[in-house]
Amino acid sequence: MRRVLMRCLAFLVVALTIAAIPAAAWEREDLSAFHERRVKLVRETGGDGVIVLFGYGDADVASSTTMFRQNEMFYYLTGWNEPNAMMLLVPKATKGSNEMIGIEKEILFIPPHDDRAGSYHGELWEGPKLGPDDADASARTGFPIVKSVTLFQSELLEALKGFNKIYTEMTPQPESGEDCFIKDMQSRLKKAAPLATFADFRDVVTRLRMVKSPGEIALIRKAAEASIEAHLAAMKTVRPGMWEYEVAARMQYEYERRGCEWPAYPPIVGSGFYSTVLHYDRDWNQMKDGDVVVMDVAGAYGGYASDITRTLPVNGKFTPRQKEIYGIVLAAADAAIAAARPGVTLGRGGSKGLHQIAYDYINTHGKDLHGKSLGQYFIHGLSHSIGLNVHDPFDYAQPLQPGMVVTIEPGIYIQEEKLGVRIEDDILITENGCEVLTRVLPRAAEEIEKVMGRH
Ligand code: GLY
Ligand code: MN
Repeated sequence: MRRVLMRCLAFLVVALTIAAIPAAAWEREDLSAFHERRVKLVRETGGDGVIVLFGYGDADVASSTTMFRQNEMFYYLTGWNEPNAMMLLVPKATKGSNEMIGIEKEILFIPPHDDRAGSYHGELWEGPKLGPDDADASARTGFPIVKSVTLFQSELLEALKGFNKIYTEMTPQPESGEDCFIKDMQSRLKKAAPLATFADFRDVVTRLRMVKSPGEIALIRKAAEASIEAHLAAMKTVRPGMWEYEVAARMQYEYERRGCEWPAYPPIVGSGFYSTVLHYDRDWNQMKDGDVVVMDVAGAYGGYASDITRTLPVNGKFTPRQKEIYGIVLAAADAAIAAARPGVTLGRGGSKGLHQIAYDYINTHGKDLHGKSLGQYFIHGLSHSIGLNVHDPFDYAQPLQPGMVVTIEPGIYIQEEKLGVRIEDDILITENGCEVLTRVLPRAAEEIEKVMGRH
């Protein structure tokens, strides 16, 4: 009896300990969404070659200073956010219409368990990990087959008995810093399969990434909601004498406590002259009475970025000149948002392009100190796609489609007047127009003054 009681107690202690381990906070889409993407990728490459991609290794991130974060392309196709993994997709060798092309094998390769005492990236140092032979490996990854990375080469050579071609990522995404990673992956693949020919799948995946799934949209909404709270907190705190980095820190605190795991990009908080510097992310200055401050700050949630900018008067009240410029930027943003719908393009040029609409408004309203039009002070693009990257891959010549999520961010930057204004919102293209995901965050000058004044 006593023994039974002890056993029950021991069971209770174990059960309570397990219950006390919090569920993983990282939110990801349903695993079926990643599988569907892999099927699409195989179909759209035509099924005439195997598809291979490596995830980042421990050495691809500066692990003493940063958290591990998966290579975007690999995450997009696998949902796997652990280092040193590889993916191999083998098409069914069927000839005929696209609909017939299916996947014969989907294999995720992950490192075997490593509990050696001195292993810096082993489980004693980094906590329990999934191993390829664990019973739940397939359920936890969504891959029907999970194997050890040590078997990658033999599986690849086996797959290449039916195909001669390997599709992989051959051109780094701009701004990704992935040049070395991609070169290294290619040389490892060439060594593993010297007789194969290679083809780039970047364009195919870019087309897929341009239109977001419902699960991706849900994650972007969460990133935007947390970042909206960060902006509201800043509106209630900014005042003369505060340092820009204090504002950035407060905003990061607000979105991270709402589950964002990292900044979607380094926070840009620039006041006075630095309101005119587009990517000023030093945030080193003290904010002065009479200046404006541009706050381009947002977090990423479940890996998905939001991107929001608001411009505030540091002392809570815009001067008439600041209000005039602010009003022009806001009206240009509103004109672009009103015109955003399937079929129009984001790009410059062409009467239908949203950039042109915003530019035309700015260039026909207001003047600089020399009586010149203001178009010359709108010095960047109006819009970019957001997703796993804050500047997500996109083909800017393509018309908008429902499910795309892009920013609308006109700005006017007059250095001579130390006056920069940018207003940036995130929009989801719908069947008939768009939904502004960041609508609840005050935009009009009077609304902003009201929020700042009340606190
Ligand atoms: N938010 C920074 C950028 O869009 O470049
Ligand atoms: Mn942006």
